[in-house]
Amino acid sequence: MWNDNDGTAKPWLRKYISDQQDVASYWNQPDILLTDTTNATPEQVRKDPMAGWGGWTPDGMIELIDDFRRKVSLCDGTPSRERFDATVMELGCGGGQICWSWHTYKERYGLVGDIIGIDHAPGAIEVAQIRMPDESFYCVGADDTVELAKLFGWGGIDVIYTLTCLQHNSAHKLKLIFDNVHRLLAEGGFLWLVNELTIDSEAYVGVYHPEAEMSPWLTDLRGSHGTATWWIGFIADHGFELLSYEKSSYIFRRI
Ligand SMILES: C[S@@+](CC[C@H](N)C(=O)[O-])C[C@H]1O[C@@H](n2cnc3c(N)ncnc32)[C@H](O)[C@@H]1O
Repeated sequence: MWNDNDGTAKPWLRKYISDQQDVASYWNQPDILLTDTTNATPEQVRKDPMAGWGGWTPDGMIELIDDFRRKVSLCDGTPSRERFDATVMELGCGGGQICWSWHTYKERYGLVGDIIGIDHAPGAIEVAQIRMPDESFYCVGADDTVELAKLFGWGGIDVIYTLTCLQHNSAHKLKLIFDNVHRLLAEGGFLWLVNELTIDSEAYVGVYHPEAEMSPWLTDLRGSHGTATWWIGFIADHGFELLSYEKSSYIFRRI
């Protein structure tokens, strides 16, 4: 079959999925976990939850979260404090470093309600849950409609965010994912999408600028794809309106 006994993909499949990157077995490979999603083993994070921390600090992310809150309250007219007494879910949370930032935010300001992380790689969820025993992590695909309905029911989440995750999924899976996001979110809830190029955009200056390209399926070496035009049109078709767009960071409201 496709997997060896330890859950890693067979070599012939590995080449295909390292190009596509939209199956759990790619993300659950021990070397990928250690270089891209958790950056530490369960044993290491048991000793120190910050072991193997990724490229940004909780404080840096808190600035991003503040920016998100500010934009939402500007666009929405709702006081941001009320907005963030909210259930927040991350799609593709990996080892939980962004959830950690929301968690820190909650401890500091008391503004966020439940924090839920989902990821289809069991090795990532294990690490995230060790890092934050008080928050909730589930091993489930964002495209798995049946399992999501069982776990969460529909319409109960206020904010769904996702960073450097969805651009790794095929267009077919993205259709399922945005339908599921629409079902999971409460009416008027927010989707905050950040894809790879937001974080890496400085590295692309003068080299590659997909927003300037009109090709809808431009793909870079990391598997990022889709222009802003493509993402906005695609997501709007799933029942969302765009509130804000800046450098591959998109805020939508569910309608
Ligand atoms: C590059 S990592 C980013 C992890 C985390 N968002 C962060 O920034 O630290 C991408 C993660 O998305 C997860 N992922 C990709 N597609 C997914 C899907 N359809 N459902 C659930 N998780 C997914 C992968 O397993 C992986 O852990």
